[in-house]
Amino acid sequence: MCGIVGYVGHRDCLPILIEGIKRLEYRGYDSAGVAVEDGTGLKVVKAAGKIRSLEAKLQTGAPVGTFGIAHTRWATHGEPNDLNAHPHTDEKCTVALVHNGIIENYGTLKAALEAEGHVFKTQTDTEVLAHLIEKYLRKGLKLERAVGEALEDVEGTYGIAVMCESEPGTLVGARHGSPMVVGIADGEYYLASDVAAIVEHTRQVIYLDDGEMAVLSPNGFHTATVALERVEKEVHDVDWDLSQIEKGGYEHFMLKEIFEQPDAVRNAMRGRLNVEEGLARLGGLNMTPEQLREIRRIIILGCGTSWHAGLIGEYMLEEFARIPVEVEYASEFRYRNPIVDEGTLVLVISQSGETIDTLAAMREARRKGARALGIVNVVGSTIARESDGGVYIHAGPEIGVASTKAFTSQVTVLALLTLALGRHRGMSRDYGIEIAREMSQLPEKIERVLASNDLVRQMADLYTKHNNFIYLCRGFNFPVALEGALKLKEISYIHAEGYPAAEMKHGPIALIDENMPVVFICTKDSAYEKVVSNMMEVRARKGRIIAIATEGDTEAASRADHVLYVPPSIPMLQPILSVIPLQLLSYHVAVQRGCDVDQPRNLAKSVTVE
Ligand code: G6P
Repeated sequence: MCGIVGYVGHRDCLPILIEGIKRLEYRGYDSAGVAVEDGTGLKVVKAAGKIRSLEAKLQTGAPVGTFGIAHTRWATHGEPNDLNAHPHTDEKCTVALVHNGIIENYGTLKAALEAEGHVFKTQTDTEVLAHLIEKYLRKGLKLERAVGEALEDVEGTYGIAVMCESEPGTLVGARHGSPMVVGIADGEYYLASDVAAIVEHTRQVIYLDDGEMAVLSPNGFHTATVALERVEKEVHDVDWDLSQIEKGGYEHFMLKEIFEQPDAVRNAMRGRLNVEEGLARLGGLNMTPEQLREIRRIIILGCGTSWHAGLIGEYMLEEFARIPVEVEYASEFRYRNPIVDEGTLVLVISQSGETIDTLAAMREARRKGARALGIVNVVGSTIARESDGGVYIHAGPEIGVASTKAFTSQVTVLALLTLALGRHRGMSRDYGIEIAREMSQLPEKIERVLASNDLVRQMADLYTKHNNFIYLCRGFNFPVALEGALKLKEISYIHAEGYPAAEMKHGPIALIDENMPVVFICTKDSAYEKVVSNMMEVRARKGRIIAIATEGDTEAASRADHVLYVPPSIPMLQPILSVIPLQLLSYHVAVQRGCDVDQPRNLAKSVTVE
């Protein structure tokens, strides 16, 4: 949520900063800005709208300098306009600062600063930090000290990058609850809220932890706590490259990522699945077989699409590992007083590994004595680092705001975990082999689903004018109904609801008429007959039916207006296949409605504020 880039070195910084925030635009895209020291002072340029509006402004009189900061915003306090865009400054523009997060006590701080004569220009919480730092600089402190002092006054969350006029060449970054990495190159140093912004320039990074800051200059850098005690940080190697965050010939990242799913699922399983023995090996769990057998209860935490993956995990783990599972919205869990004990294993699912609610919920569960395992995509992210162990899904960078390949990879990892736990807890070798064999066939089956892309596009043409959709299913596929509806509303702004098919009669059936498209996931499993009956009930009320059915199923086809086929699999793995036509459907409907698929309005890829 919001993107930050900072650079100090010997090159003209503006192109580096602009390119960097473009790579972070998926994190927030309602306004953007830069600050550059051009030899005469700090020059700040800001614009509402996408980064291209900022670039248009920079066409004339762009500042030239070798250190600066930039930001792409997702508004929290203050509407997204030129003024409220970051960087923010003090009155005389001696300090410039970009910020992710929320300063919760900004009202009190602002009133105190106003009483001291500070004049504020914006409605943002961030501006108080610029004024506070300026206040400490005026007392004669160096930038590093002034930032440390200001942060001592602040309550809330932040990832910040700060520069000031009086110390040209010094850039200070700090973090508390909002990610911040330092990039290290030869005589050049970077700050970024996400590695994607700087991977083009360096793969050597340091991840700051909460309460830490980094001080960069062309001569080197050091890291310290905000109380200014030096800390030595490990330098990590980023193991992916630029090509993975480019569109590679696809019109949108979302489509590219949908088509990457055969490889993403393959990578999630690589080296972990033993088909001959019906086993899964997950080295990162950091748990002995004895500890795996002692788990009495599992709580799964996540938000959005990751929460939907967790629901499928619940069905799998209860049925095959025979462990009671609860799936919780991380945002609700953290504010209750949940019952968690040492027999509770907490699975924390997050693509980004930075979602603030998920992170806070994990911390709360660990505080209460639970062991937390992360199911995370972004290597080195906060959840990955703070959990007791876990499994990377290895889906590669996901840029499209609507999650696709991360979802199928998360479900794949949950299936591996089910197999691993199940085999320690009484699952037969034969059944283990069947699950493992079916899993190994998933990439090829996903390819088969993707081959229907043109058909989905043609079908989507017929549904672009509808403003409501219902998605229905039962069993393992029920969370897919939720996910299909979420995908459609996220990117095409069509109101869509997912329900268990049997619940239709308790309300949604009242909505059904000839204008209501109803998507049924009716693959051949134990719920099939019942779902087909529900289809008949919709048909009797003239609803328009789109069926996701198993290849060769002519009965479902005869009852639907349209049918999209997926290959058969065992029920627990079917969601990985049946979600794909729904991803494609929402993609094509959104494109045909002229929506901004990769950057839907009001959303952000990584939600790092509450
Ligand atoms: C945002 C994204 C969703 C994502 C959710 C959870 O809402 O737009 O696509 O599912 O956050 O994110 P996480 O990174 O924790 O999986």
